Amino acid sequence: MTEPTTPSGDNTYVERAYRLGGPDDARALYDEWAKHYDADLADASQGYVAPALAAETLVRVAGPDVTVLDAGCGTGLVGAALAERGVRVIDGMDVSEGMLEQARATGAYRSLQPVDLTRALPTAADEYDAVVCVGTLTHGHVGPAVLAEFVRVTRPEGWVVATILDDIWESGGYRAEVDRLVGQGVTELVSAETAPYRSGVGVEARMLVLTVR
Ligand SMILES: C[S@@+](CC[C@H](N)C(=O)[O-])C[C@H]1O[C@@H](n2cnc3c(N)ncnc32)[C@H](O)[C@@H]1O
Repeated sequence: MTEPTTPSGDNTYVERAYRLGGPDDARALYDEWAKHYDADLADASQGYVAPALAAETLVRVAGPDVTVLDAGCGTGLVGAALAERGVRVIDGMDVSEGMLEQARATGAYRSLQPVDLTRALPTAADEYDAVVCVGTLTHGHVGPAVLAEFVRVTRPEGWVVATILDDIWESGGYRAEVDRLVGQGVTELVSAETAPYRSGVGVEARMLVLTVR
């Protein structure tokens, strides 16, 4: 495995997160990190702007009157950012019970459940108007195969908005998976612009926006 070179901002949890070996590792690390995750990433030295930017993007393309699945919801930073922008129906999924417990405390979610995103989602086809996924398509976390699941659970004409760490957009196979899904005719690529992610340390991500056919 190639060692990730993405700057961690000298945060040992970020360093450990980029070296996760799979869902069991992720559960253990994030259960341990959950109670101070928000404080660590809100720190100006990290400048974790991705949740607010993704929420802004989703509301810009889909409007606030949508049902949203927040996949890899963590402590609920994205749900809270969506709720601030008027979104009222948000379900969250995450592999870590510790993170889900923090998300519950935000009051932003209709439901929250433990789900491993490396497996098929426990969700019917076309269930949501939109799926949002922030910070979870990254080193050691969830690979590109989940994009087909996001498209499957989103209704036709609905939206998928996801951040993908810029330095693995191509090397991690995410771009190829988007091309494959577009080629299959199940989705259209609206944009995949580079956007600030952890702005305090200069880390960027692709802000992927797909519409579902
Ligand atoms: C960097 S955090 C992002 C959380 C939140 N979206 C945010 O922006 O703050 C990554 C999240 O992915 C979750 N995660 C990692 N692997 C996962 C998996 N296989 N299935 C579901 N969630 C996973 C972690 O538990 C963690 O909450």
